[in-house]
Amino acid sequence: MLRKCLISAFLAFCFGLTSFASQDNVVTMDSEKPVWLKNAIFYDIYPSSFKDSDGNGIGDLQGIISKLDYVKDLGATAIWMNPIFVSGWFDGGYDIIDFYKVDPRFGTNEDVVTLVNEAHKRGLKVCLDLVAGHTSDQCSWFKESSSEKEGRYSDYYIWTDDISDEEKELIRKRHQSANPAVSLTGKYVEANGARAKYYRKNFYECQPALNYGFYKPSEPWQQSMDDPGPRAVKREMMNIIAFWFDKGIDGFRVDMASSLVKNDVDNQGTRKFWAEIRNWIDENYEDKVLISEWCYPTRAIPCGFNMDFYLPRTRNIGWTHLMWGDQEESFHGSWFCKDGGGECSQFLKKFRADYDATRDMGYISLSTSNHDLIRPCTEFRNGQDELKMVMTVILTMPGVPFIHYGDEIGIQFERDLGNVEGSRFRSGTRSPMQWDSSETCGFSTANPDKLYIPVNKDHSWNNVESQLNDPNSVLNYTKALIALRLSTPALGGNSDWEILGDMEREYPMVYSRSDGKRKYIIAVNPSGNKVSVNFAKQGNDKPQPVISVGKASYKGGKNADTITLGGVSAVIYRVF
Ligand code: GLC
Repeated sequence: MLRKCLISAFLAFCFGLTSFASQDNVVTMDSEKPVWLKNAIFYDIYPSSFKDSDGNGIGDLQGIISKLDYVKDLGATAIWMNPIFVSGWFDGGYDIIDFYKVDPRFGTNEDVVTLVNEAHKRGLKVCLDLVAGHTSDQCSWFKESSSEKEGRYSDYYIWTDDISDEEKELIRKRHQSANPAVSLTGKYVEANGARAKYYRKNFYECQPALNYGFYKPSEPWQQSMDDPGPRAVKREMMNIIAFWFDKGIDGFRVDMASSLVKNDVDNQGTRKFWAEIRNWIDENYEDKVLISEWCYPTRAIPCGFNMDFYLPRTRNIGWTHLMWGDQEESFHGSWFCKDGGGECSQFLKKFRADYDATRDMGYISLSTSNHDLIRPCTEFRNGQDELKMVMTVILTMPGVPFIHYGDEIGIQFERDLGNVEGSRFRSGTRSPMQWDSSETCGFSTANPDKLYIPVNKDHSWNNVESQLNDPNSVLNYTKALIALRLSTPALGGNSDWEILGDMEREYPMVYSRSDGKRKYIIAVNPSGNKVSVNFAKQGNDKPQPVISVGKASYKGGKNADTITLGGVSAVIYRVF
């Protein structure tokens, strides 16, 4: 406890939370709670694309239920599903019309209860997606708010007749773009309606921002966090959270979690909001988790999130460069490519700092990809051994790992699948799960041309059926890594993590994990070249390889040990 208080004090100092006024941004978080998180491995499912049970070409909840045994067999311990609520389907479900109702394309609210019960029977937790920052412009709240008439929803959104010239210019630019509806330029949308000239958006034009207030209102039309509108929005969010918790779900991944309060430079207001929500959850529910899409663990975790993602949204985390290279959409220079580039030091340094600052409170989550991100398998990185490099790092690092459905079998990201329901390039990471090598990959009984998104062109080797039968497949490798992680406390979410050798190098990445009783060394070299690294002596006996890809050797010296790795190789050694 003392340690936790000291850590909170340290964080408060580092992140400017020392004043009394802002102590309400920090809550007591404990990485030991809930207990199930310590060994959690999440499997993320884009519901439209996982399994279609009724043959209409779109995945659904009954389809997911029918595949829970697969998820369990993989070794995952929890599921996160992208939004399943009634939606305008202009942003893959992130434009919600009714937060309290499952979209008919997926089934019913009762199906969620069945899914949760069936998952729990198998020891799997279920988390949904909370789109806290905005709704669809088709949502009845927004329609009512747009009206001149004062009513319950009038102040659920941010309206103004008065925006800066700069913002007007951004609207003009957006309208000149090829497809203004999916352009992210600017913060305001011209409504020219009865209520006001403009409303504030959060993402696309069709996603009006909910009104959580302005941290320091500077215009008469800007409300404070304590004004009645923002307070009503907060109550509504709590109702939504309670509604689904009462149906048995285990937590939420929170979409754009840092985006709520406006003019909130250091997220002081948004952190205060989440701290209140966390306290309220802990008072009323047991063991519920919040996972943030914030990408700033030292902000997200102390204010109430159990886990925060490392994603490209914050570019200085290094992980982005390792996975996606300099140009996110082209992969050139990705550290994980055989002919890639870059170095792992930026990532290691940032992770070291974030991990040290948050490890007693929560977890950093590394993901293989997600519904927004290019998959590990692309035209530049598609050898099974290359994909195993990504899996090795993600499944041996501290924190809570996330596997995007299909990455465990190497579904390839395709860039020319077109814009489906606002996906733009993201269709490539949302194509149907590949269960077998048939025309629709066993995803649906619909005609191939009726599928929500076409199946991947190449599904000969990367489908569940053939990978299960191949002892060298990415799937069986992933299963072995998961089984090792789950049976080895030293590899668990908050066991110790140390970087071995000099950080200032391109390849390989070498680190140890230990819980005091056992120690493991992980060495990963995605490059095509042979590399070796020296580091301080680790133990008396020669470490034994437990899992490996490619060629690796370990040489123990008097004071220093050396690992040599062939091109595209990885190894996990047990030291003691
Ligand atoms: C998040 C989601 C993304 C969505 C956006 C707007 O980043 O992951 O899919 O488009 O928020 O809700």
